[in-house]
Amino acid sequence: MELSRRLSLIIQNIDECDTLVDVGTDHGYIPIKCIKDGLCKKAIASDINKDPLDKAKLNSVFEGVDEEVEFRLGGGLSTVEVSECNGIVIAGMGGNLIRDILEEDKEVVKEADYLILLPAQNPEVLREYLYTNNYEIIKEDLCLDDGIYYELFKVRSKDGETTELDSIYYEVSPTLLRERHELLKGFIESKIEKYEKIKGLITDDSESAKLRLEELNTKIDVLNNLLNYCS
Ligand SMILES: C[S@@+](CC[C@H](N)C(=O)[O-])C[C@H]1O[C@@H](n2cnc3c(N)ncnc32)[C@H](O)[C@@H]1O
Repeated sequence: MELSRRLSLIIQNIDECDTLVDVGTDHGYIPIKCIKDGLCKKAIASDINKDPLDKAKLNSVFEGVDEEVEFRLGGGLSTVEVSECNGIVIAGMGGNLIRDILEEDKEVVKEADYLILLPAQNPEVLREYLYTNNYEIIKEDLCLDDGIYYELFKVRSKDGETTELDSIYYEVSPTLLRERHELLKGFIESKIEKYEKIKGLITDDSESAKLRLEELNTKIDVLNNLLNYCS
């Protein structure tokens, strides 16, 4: 079973534990790999849809770990009891959906030792939520997989851990800036490119268009300044 860079990054960040749940498991590669590598004794593969769960079951039979993986059908963390899991993985969904899943089952989140979150889109929404809602940031990381940047958050619930930042720092992680992460320069450059493209699409000269252009120019200036902090 060959894992993508994105899934490998998740696996690298999983601490050994008794029970791990993978929410939105789809193919089931994360629970399967965790059992095979001895990272957890039991894994719960959870998904809101039956077809992915059937696929995960089949893959776990092929890989010879179906006895150690449990399959649960349901949304978010509703499929697990409070204190049932030490580790929680939620990956491959949008930042908004991951935030909503965490909000929906706060008691499950509070009792977990750690969560690994890797949004497929809108990581800035999730970062803002985590920074301003009592989460300790254990680690942040970044990978480039098939031309797409993905951000990883390893966190745990902790009262009193709240930091409000300027909105640009929800887009560009202060932790990764501090560490001078090796991929950060390319990541910021790709954002500048994206905003330049959006600018090119604004052709009318209405007041709202002018305002939007101004916002984009300010953002591009700030991002260019941040490049000075990258290695
Ligand atoms: C794109 S796949 C990601 C699979 C895997 N986690 C990964 O990162 O490669 C998204 C999966 O999340 C499931 N899903 C979507 N919304 C969900 C929710 N609210 N709760 C649980 N699973 C959900 C989908 O059925 C699908 O299997």
